[in-house]
Amino acid sequence: MNKDDAEKRIGKLRREIACLREEYHVYDKPSVSDAVFDSLNRELKNILRKYPEFADSNAPENRVAGRPLEKFAKVHHKNKMLSLNDVFSEEELRDWEKRVKKLLNLEALPPLGGKASKFDYFCEVKFDGLAVSLIYSKGRLVKGATRGDGLIGEDITENLKTIHSIPLVLMLPYPEYLEVRGEVVMSKATLAKLNKKNKRENKALFANTRNAAAGSMRQLDPKLAAERHLDFFAYDIAEISNGGQVAPKSHSEKHIILRKLGFQVDKNEVVCKSLDEVLSFIRKFEKIRPSFSYGTDGVVVSVNSLEFQNMLGVAGKAPRFMAAFKYPAERATTVIKEVKINVGRTGVLTPLAVFEPTAVAGSTVSKATLHNMDQITRLDLRVGDTVVIEKAGDVIPKVVEVLPRLRTGKEKKFKMPKICPSCGGKIEKKNLGTAASVAHYCVNQKCFAKDERYLEHFVSVFGIYELGPKILRRFKDEGLITDAADIFTLEKEDIELLEHFGKKSAENIINEIKSKKKIPLDKFLWALGIVHVGEETARDLAAHFGTLEKVIISAIPARISARMVLAEIDSLENIGPVVSKSLHDFFQNKNNLDFIKKLEKNGVVIEKANKRERGKLTGRTFVLTGTLENMSREIAKEKILALGGKVSGSVSAYTSYVVAGAEPGSKLKNARKLGVKVLTEEEFFKML
Ligand code: IVH
Repeated sequence: MNKDDAEKRIGKLRREIACLREEYHVYDKPSVSDAVFDSLNRELKNILRKYPEFADSNAPENRVAGRPLEKFAKVHHKNKMLSLNDVFSEEELRDWEKRVKKLLNLEALPPLGGKASKFDYFCEVKFDGLAVSLIYSKGRLVKGATRGDGLIGEDITENLKTIHSIPLVLMLPYPEYLEVRGEVVMSKATLAKLNKKNKRENKALFANTRNAAAGSMRQLDPKLAAERHLDFFAYDIAEISNGGQVAPKSHSEKHIILRKLGFQVDKNEVVCKSLDEVLSFIRKFEKIRPSFSYGTDGVVVSVNSLEFQNMLGVAGKAPRFMAAFKYPAERATTVIKEVKINVGRTGVLTPLAVFEPTAVAGSTVSKATLHNMDQITRLDLRVGDTVVIEKAGDVIPKVVEVLPRLRTGKEKKFKMPKICPSCGGKIEKKNLGTAASVAHYCVNQKCFAKDERYLEHFVSVFGIYELGPKILRRFKDEGLITDAADIFTLEKEDIELLEHFGKKSAENIINEIKSKKKIPLDKFLWALGIVHVGEETARDLAAHFGTLEKVIISAIPARISARMVLAEIDSLENIGPVVSKSLHDFFQNKNNLDFIKKLEKNGVVIEKANKRERGKLTGRTFVLTGTLENMSREIAKEKILALGGKVSGSVSAYTSYVVAGAEPGSKLKNARKLGVKVLTEEEFFKML
C-alpha cells in the first residue's frame, strides 16, 4: 500500500469506526460484532504503524467509549475511567511483558531476589457488560455512573440500586470514601428468557448479554431496569480513603477488600508468578468460558503490585500495567483481492474469496467460500470490498457480510466464467431446489478437476485416509488408476516402484484399502457422488430401501402400458423432485451402473441397511443453535436421532423446528425469515 492509498484507507476506517462506536456506546445497538470492530481497529493500527505521520490523538480510535446520552444527568468522574489495551495472542502478551519489565528496569535483575521477587501478575475474568463507577460515602451508595467518554458519564444511580448484588450499605468497617469499578452484566439464561418474552411481544431482540445489560441500565424508568434481573461484579477500587480497611498494596488485595465490604467478585482469579502461569490460567478459562453464566470476552492481566502499577502509569486511554487478553474471535474483516473458482466433484463451481492472510478463530486463513453466484449477488460483493469473514470449527471460513461504507468506488463486480476454468467445458445453470438458488456446473463428463475432486471425495467416504489428494493425482498421472474402482486392485508392488514410495508406505496404503472394502449402503450411496445426494439424503435412502438394488429399481419408474407409475422414491419424506430426478438420471446412465459393477467385481461389499425404526420424532428435522443450558448439543442430537428425528446444520424450508439456546446465531434469524417454528430449550425437552 502506498502513502496515498494508506491515507485514503485511514480516512475510510476512521469514519467507519466512528459510526460503529456511536452505534455501540451511545445507542447500545451495534450493527457488527466486537470481533469485526476489533478487526477494523487492528487494520487501522497496522497502517498507522507504517505511516505514523497520520496519527491523530483526536481520532476516533483514541477515544474512550462514547459521548454521554442527553437524558441522564452528567457525572464528572473524579478518577478517569480508563479503557484497556487488547492483546490477541501469546506473542502479543509476551511483548507486553517485555515492555513492562523494560519500563520497570526488571530485565537485568535475576529472577528472584530484590525488586523482581515482588513482581507478579493478577488474572481475572473480563466481563462483557457495562462498566460503571460506584461512589460510597460513609458506607452508603451515593452515586453510580456509566463510563461515558471516561471523564463524563451518566448518572444511573436509581437504576443501579435495583441490582441486588450492588450493596447499598457497605459492611463494617467501611472507609469514609470509596470509588469502586465493576461491570453490570446480564446472565446468558436471563437474556434467553428476556428475548423469549420480547419475541412473544413482537419487540426487538438483544444481540448479546452486553447490549441487554447496557440497554437495561439506560432505561429512564428504574422499574423497567429492575425487571431485567441484572448482576454486578466488582473488579477494581479507583480510590479508597484511609480508615476502615487496611490500604491495599496489590490488585489481589483490592479484591479481598471488595469482598469484605460486601461486593460480588468473581472467583475465577489467580495470582501468577510468571507469564507461563498467566497463559495456563487463560487456557483454563477458555474451557470454562462456554458454560460460564455470563458473557466474557477475555482475561484481564495486571501487574499485581500497586507500587509497580504507579510506576508504569497510564498511556493515552489505557494503563500500561494492564492488558486485556482477548480470545480468538470467530469473525474478522479483510479486503477481497480476487474471486477464484473451485470445481467440485459434481462439477459445481464454487466461488472462493481470496485475501491477504488474516487471523480468525485462532488460525490464519486466506480464502473463504462464497457458496454460489446467488450468494455473491445477495451480499452485493465486489472485488476490492472490505468484508466480514466467519470461521467456526474446522470448516472453511465464509464471507458473511460486506461493509459498503468502506468502498472507494474502485471495486469490481464479479461474473461467473462462461466456460469451466479447469477443462474449458460448457457451464450450465441448475436449480438447487431446496435453497431456492441456482448453481453453475461444468457439464463435461471428463473434466479433470471434477475427476480429481471425485476421487478425493470417494476415498474420504470410504475412510481410506492414506490416499491424500497428492497421492491420488500421482497414481492417476502414472496410469495406476483410471477411476476410483481401480484403487481396489492396486498391489503393493505397483506402488513400491514409484519414486518416493518405500516398501513401508506401499504396505500401509494396501493394507488400508483392503480393510475398507466393506461399506454400509448409506456411505456407498454418498460415495457415488450423485448430485444432491449428500450424507443425510443417502442415510434416508438407505434406511428406507435397505439394499442398492431396491434404490435403483425405485429410482427408475416402471412404465405400465403408456402411463408412468409414480416411483416409490417420490413418496419419501425429505426427497423432493430435484433429488429423485438426479437419482433417476444417475441410475439411467449405463456408465454409472458399470462403475458399480466394477467396484463389486474388485471386491467392494455393500452392506445392507437396517430399516429405520419409527419414533415419535420421525419425519421431523431439527436445527440446534445457541448454548443449551441442560445438555450439550451432541447429546441433544443423539436424543433426536434415537427418537427417529433428524438433525441438520442449516435452516431451510424443510426444517421442522429450530431449537434456540442462549446467544443463538444466524440460524435463528433464518428460521424467522422462513417462518420455521422456534422452540425454547424447555419446549424442546417436553418433546423428548
Ligand atoms: S479493569 C483501566 N477488569 O473492560 C480500566 N475491566 O476493555 C480498568 N472489564 O472498561 C478495567 N471486566 O468495562 C477490568 N475484570 C475486569 C473487567 C474489565 C470487564 C471491562 C471494563 C473496561 C473494559 C476495557
